[in-house]
Amino acid sequence: MKFYYKDLELEIPANIYYPREDSMLMLDILEKTDLRGLKVLDMGTGSGILAVAAAKKGALVLAVDIDKNAVEIAWKNAAANNTVIRYRCSDLFEKISERFDLIIFNAPYLPADDTRIQELPQWYGGPNGREIIERFLRSAKDFLTEHGKILLLISTITGEKEVKNILDKEGFGWVAIKREKIPWEELVVIAARINI
Ligand SMILES: C[S@@+](CC[C@H](N)C(=O)[O-])C[C@H]1O[C@@H](n2cnc3c(N)ncnc32)[C@H](O)[C@@H]1O
Repeated sequence: MKFYYKDLELEIPANIYYPREDSMLMLDILEKTDLRGLKVLDMGTGSGILAVAAAKKGALVLAVDIDKNAVEIAWKNAAANNTVIRYRCSDLFEKISERFDLIIFNAPYLPADDTRIQELPQWYGGPNGREIIERFLRSAKDFLTEHGKILLLISTITGEKEVKNILDKEGFGWVAIKREKIPWEELVVIAARINI
């Protein structure tokens, strides 16, 4: 299915995450951020929408997904939108060995029962919705430059307080920079950086 947003045009097959309110919230923040020359990691790139938007704003982007189909589609979408982006299929930071000024992650944040997790393992954040986020936050500091920042999108369903506790435990200073109410939940974007 096609997805259009401003000057972006993406092709998104049914098995790849179709951009939703969460993607749009992140896009909105990226649009207002000066990304020129910054090294950006788009974790869980899906269709590549955030990676393409960041590259269009002058960032040097590495886009990562655990799903090799997503990586392929994101690569095609980058080319179709005249952007040059590096791609890697990786379980979080497993295949990454460099540091970034900004790591963006529209994380799989919804809890799901075992059946749903088995059907679409890459879409759900585990039984409590926080497994992937917790693993991500445990490793992220090793992949940030000295003043590097994270933009993490979660939902109140993920457990906002619990995620903030993980950030505290892992030594991040954080602030919720954007919120949006949607029918069943509130989306929250958290900006975090390592406490110095
Ligand atoms: C909510 S979607 C976001 C997609 C896209 N960034 C967007 O904003 O529309 C989450 C993405 O994270 C990917 N993902 C899930 N677990 C992952 C992991 N362990 N490592 C890397 N990517 C993962 C999924 O395959 C999916 O594409």
